[in-house]
Amino acid sequence: MTNDDLSLLVETSDEWIRTRTGIRKRHLATTDLSLSELSAQAATQAIAMANLTANDVDLIILATSTADDLFGSAAKVQAILQANRAVAFDLTAACSGFVFGLITASQFIRTGVYKNVLVIGADILSRWVDWSDRSSCVLFGDGAGAVLCQGSTDEDRLLGSAMYSNGEQHEALNIGYDGTGKKLKDGITVNQGTYKPITMKGRDVYRFAVEKVPEVIEKALFNAQLTTDDVDWLILHQANQRIIDSVAKRLKIPPQKVIANLDEYGNTSAASIPLALDEAVRQGKIKPGEIIASSGFGAGLTWGAVIFRWGI
Ligand code: ACO
Repeated sequence: MTNDDLSLLVETSDEWIRTRTGIRKRHLATTDLSLSELSAQAATQAIAMANLTANDVDLIILATSTADDLFGSAAKVQAILQANRAVAFDLTAACSGFVFGLITASQFIRTGVYKNVLVIGADILSRWVDWSDRSSCVLFGDGAGAVLCQGSTDEDRLLGSAMYSNGEQHEALNIGYDGTGKKLKDGITVNQGTYKPITMKGRDVYRFAVEKVPEVIEKALFNAQLTTDDVDWLILHQANQRIIDSVAKRLKIPPQKVIANLDEYGNTSAASIPLALDEAVRQGKIKPGEIIASSGFGAGLTWGAVIFRWGI
């Protein structure tokens, strides 16, 4: 769906969307595609790249805010993959989900509980966007990306991390529940309803991101005993090119070290970092041994960063 396509839907223009966000188009899931199937497609490619089979996977962490089922979709992904040994669960932290998932995976690996952990970031936000709200519908796209994290005895490649949340700003970005009372009997009324489309205070989220993201990356680098000079690649959650440029500038990381692909995909929420990582690896940009600083941020509000050494 291009910006011009969107301008037929709401009062906007390619020029406005490109200059304010850097987005040119977004990819939207077909009506019959489930989040579980989309996630499984990404997972299959990650498992193949790691030269493993689904049977080798011990744990599947599905970072998503748009599960097919409120009870979770990770187990469904496990079934599609036929990852018969794996335990699977969902992790909900909006656009921070992938980074939170990666840090969660590292805890299981470091304690020796699991060796091969699949972390998937996937979202189909097109199902929750208000397509009449021009201030938010132009931003989002659908996608899934995955990495296979493997325990190793020679080196811990997750070099540093940091995570934060601030529920005081919860109202800045929501897919909130909306229900009404349904009386079952005298004295007993339950609340029944569904979720409302995305609401967002764009400027508040923007200000939050440009302030907190450089801080959390600095913190993760400090934990890794590294500095920004050591960073080979910066991969931020792909929300807005202006946010990416501002964070890179504050950290004094030059543009040629910044990976961005939101012009093609828009903001794909939990999928945006693994999508950008995967493209850069397959294009041969990111090479084994290089150090990547990555940060996710979004609803909650939540934000986090990981510093890791790419290896395959
Ligand atoms: N087309 C044309 N005009 C628009 C559009 C549009 N699509 N959207 C808003 N406008 C108008 C507004 O109505 C406003 O008009 P007014 O001045 O007459 O009232 C004007 O453009 C400026 O609006 P702002 O909201 O001030 O525009 P801003 O420059 O802040 O850009 C944006 C808006 C792109 C949403 C920006 O604030 C942003 O990127 N915020 C961060 C959003 C984000 O990243 N959200 C996702 C977080 S990740 C997650 O967890 C899902």
